[in-house]
This record gives sequence, structure tokens and C-alpha cells, in this order.
Amino acid sequence: MTSMTINGEALRFNLDPATPLLWALRDVANLTGAKYGCDTGECGACTVIVDQRAVTSCTVAIGSLEGAEVVTIEGLSSNRTHPIQQAWAAEQVSQCGYCEPGLILAIAALLKANPRPSEAEVEALPNICRCGIGPRMKQAIARASIAMTGGDSLNTIAREAAPQPSIAPE
Ligand code: FES
Ligand code: FES
Repeated sequence: MTSMTINGEALRFNLDPATPLLWALRDVANLTGAKYGCDTGECGACTVIVDQRAVTSCTVAIGSLEGAEVVTIEGLSSNRTHPIQQAWAAEQVSQCGYCEPGLILAIAALLKANPRPSEAEVEALPNICRCGIGPRMKQAIARASIAMTGGDSLNTIAREAAPQPSIAPE
């Protein structure tokens, strides 16, 4: 038996402690936002937040998570109001969507630790996207960063990726 809090709700799993968190979430808790990709911790599709850190849920056994606080994409915010979710929609980042729950949670964890991430920190995100959303994703991170910091003292990623006027002033 393993007890943890998921999206603010106390849950107890009567599963083999070696069960990967990904399968406890998807098959038992019916939280299917975390996606199955590589199963080896390399693609990031299964990323969730555990105790404030982004982790690949395919590589974490639930037995190691007694008392942990887990956040999945379903619990990141009510009504999709997290700044990165709002920026994602505003910048029309989405394509096929498979990588996106994991990517959004990885970015949410990054922005919580550092609301003004550098471009290098953004590019260091390990999540893989096969659809090429990278440029729009950077725009969205810049937008979210501005929203979270009030727009003061923009960092490199925010300055370089901030939306520019499409028509130059005369
Ligand atoms: S499915 Fe977990 S990192 Fe790819
Ligand atoms: S949007 Fe398709 S894999 Fe990233």
C-alpha cells in the first residue's frame, strides 16, 4: 500500500511498490494526461511534478513516493489558468499534443523555480517534441514569464522571444 497526494487529493494505491507512477496514474487513478512514450526516461511525455520537481513518471516506482505530493496536468490549475497554460493558448503552441502535458508541467516546474529562465535553461528541458513546436513554445514561456514577473527586468528568453509587432511603425 502506498499513500500520496495527487492533485490535492489523498490516494492510496494497493499495487506492487515497483509499479511505475505512470501506470498508477493512468490505469488506477484514471489520470491519463501523462503520456507513455519511451518508457526509459528520455522523451518526457510522462512528466509530472513530484514535490515541486519535474520527474518522468515512467522511471519512478510508487514505492518511493510514500507521502509525496504529485501534480499532473489535470491538477496544474483550475480552468487552465496557470500562466503557461494561458500563454500556450495565446501563442497557439499546440500541434498533435502528445508531448504537451509533460512539457507544460516541466515548464511549470521550471518557472516556479525561476520565473525568468535563461534561453539555455529553456533549451535544456529534456522533453522531446516531434512536431516542431519549439519556437512557439519559447514565445509562450516568454509570455508566461512576463505574466509571472510583471514584465520587469526581462531576461534573455523573454526579450528574444517576446512577441514583436508584425508591422513596423512608419
Ligand atoms: S515515457 Fe517516460 S520519459 Fe518517455
Ligand atoms: S506537439 Fe506533437 S509531439 Fe509535441
